[in-house]
Amino acid sequence: MSTPTSVVPVRAMLVLGTRPEAIKLAPVARAMAAGSQFEPIVVTTGQHREMLHQMLGLLYVDVRIALDVMRRRQQLSDLTARLVRDLGGVMREQRPDLVLVQGDTTTALAGALAAFYEKIPVAHVEAGLRTGVIDNPFPEELNRSLIGRIARWHFAPTPAAARHLTGEGIPEEQVFVTGNTVIDNLMWVLAEGTGTSAFGGAAKRILVTLHRRENQGERMRGMGRALTRLAARGDVEIVLPLHKSPAVREVLLPELEGQRGISLVEPLGYLDFAATLAECDLVLTDSGGIQEEAPSLSKPALVLRTTTERPEAVEAGAARLIGTDPEAIVSWANRLLDDPAEYRRMATAGNPFGDGTASARILSQLAEDFAADVPVGLTASGPYSTA
Ligand code: UD1
Ligand code: UDP
Repeated sequence: MSTPTSVVPVRAMLVLGTRPEAIKLAPVARAMAAGSQFEPIVVTTGQHREMLHQMLGLLYVDVRIALDVMRRRQQLSDLTARLVRDLGGVMREQRPDLVLVQGDTTTALAGALAAFYEKIPVAHVEAGLRTGVIDNPFPEELNRSLIGRIARWHFAPTPAAARHLTGEGIPEEQVFVTGNTVIDNLMWVLAEGTGTSAFGGAAKRILVTLHRRENQGERMRGMGRALTRLAARGDVEIVLPLHKSPAVREVLLPELEGQRGISLVEPLGYLDFAATLAECDLVLTDSGGIQEEAPSLSKPALVLRTTTERPEAVEAGAARLIGTDPEAIVSWANRLLDDPAEYRRMATAGNPFGDGTASARILSQLAEDFAADVPVGLTASGPYSTA
């Protein structure tokens, strides 16, 4: 009788620091935990605190190492420096076989850079998103482009994202179209859990989120005023879960607190957020992830930004990039609330971000590469260059 040979699992470090990274790496962590091919090593950086902690339950994996880099109102340069140094230390100590980073945050860039310095190959989840404008969104467009230079595996959510990467000279054999893991997570949560919607009983329900750095200050104040004008219709309820960022709160709280028809709430846990999204009629947002989730729940999304790295939803007709001008916000929202044909067109446009199998595709590609005869290095062509 032959004895089964035990295969040593691939030690995969998942670096996450903000709410969207936890949400979008959660299905990857869950899939790793459910199988035996990978040992997930979750490292949280603490770029976010409350907003990250309320998402960690989605991972189904304990956090192995928790860094604590958050400082109130810290500069991006301080945050980045602290992250690279601390993550480098963790990687030196743990020696994972690979490091996974997601998206375009400072945590993701620092995770990729620290891994490169330690000569550990990097897998980039949600690779290839581009606006083509280096400082919009700021600093995310630069972050994701730099991660693109570093990564060994580029897991692109859509064919267009994959084309950006190959267009930048990334070898095709390192680029994989997987769909976005946010859809995996949303489908899983809607099937698993029961959240509570933050809406009361108003006729027309608008879900709003605002946090982008390039919108902070006067522009965000104007957007707040547009919400007050919408609420003055009298037949709408606006729910706005407020980002924890002081730069967001100091503008929106004085503008919107106590206004009739506007509920400012603390950041919602994912189950509750999904339930709130499922119950709304219209989404106004400058968030990245919500642009992906809204179309998959048939909710028209007005994107309050001047650029988007997710043009697929706009091209499909599920989202509209309307900018940050208060007039445009009020008139587009009114139009969608009052014109059923226009509303239906957007609500039925469909979701271009995947079918909920992105994490399975990511794991199967990684498993294949680690099982191959060629040792895994920083590029697809093998181990490290000694040139
Ligand atoms: C960051 C990401 C952005 C992502 C967003 C998701 C960067 C440069 N930006 O936004 O890409 O879309 O997170 O939400 O990585 N704070 C708390 N508790 C929290 C979270 C934040 O108190 O749980 C406060 C802290 O004072 C913190 C500030 O909010 O310094 C801003 O957080 P930060 O991660 O810097 O937010 P953004 O850079 O705006
Ligand atoms: N989200 C949440 N609770 C909230 C607001 C957002 O769970 O109160 C989720 C939302 O479903 C999406 C993600 O957070 O998946 C988006 O995060 P955020 O807008 O902070 O960042 P971005 O996607 O812009 O990077």
